[in-house]
Amino acid sequence: MNILLDAETIQARVKALAGEIERDYPADDEIHLVGVLKGGFIFMSDLVRAMSHRVSLDFIAVSSYAKSTKSSGEVRMLKDLDSGLQGRHVIIVEDIVDTGLTLTYLQEILKARSPKTLRTACLLSKPSRRQVDVAVEYIGFTIEDRFVVGYGLDYAEKYRNLPYIAVLNE
Ligand code: IMP
Ligand code: MG
Repeated sequence: MNILLDAETIQARVKALAGEIERDYPADDEIHLVGVLKGGFIFMSDLVRAMSHRVSLDFIAVSSYAKSTKSSGEVRMLKDLDSGLQGRHVIIVEDIVDTGLTLTYLQEILKARSPKTLRTACLLSKPSRRQVDVAVEYIGFTIEDRFVVGYGLDYAEKYRNLPYIAVLNE
């Protein structure tokens, strides 16, 4: 496995992103983070710990990938949010934007719940794979078209616990 982004590099970037996000919202406003399970859980936990704003959080689970490295283009809701979004500053926290299909689906269903603002933060982006033009306001790293694992990202449910991001050898 080749390490693409080591733990220190990721930690530094996540802290910078947290700062960027906090500068974009009034200091007294609460930010509601919606983590996308399961891939986004590590990014979410590091991001919230780097923030000093008032935050609340929730999780949603969707499935877009079977046990394969290719996107099926199919998105299914597995677990909905616990609370409503009306009038809240919502940020979707996701591991990676690849084709963009998952985030397009998520943004549509969450927008329909009338948040005050809705933005998206992704640790990784693979722009060369995009099938739909989706807005992602906060991006940690832009990477090449490689299948990566670690820091929340899996291959067949493995490798999520790695503290770094690595390219899985075919
Ligand atoms: P999209 O709908 O094609 O943008 O896919 C997004 C989802 O696919 C992410 O939330 C990941 O769960 C998964 N995914 C995309 N690329 C990778 C990768 O390189 N490694 C692991 N999971 C990936
Ligand atoms: Mg995911």
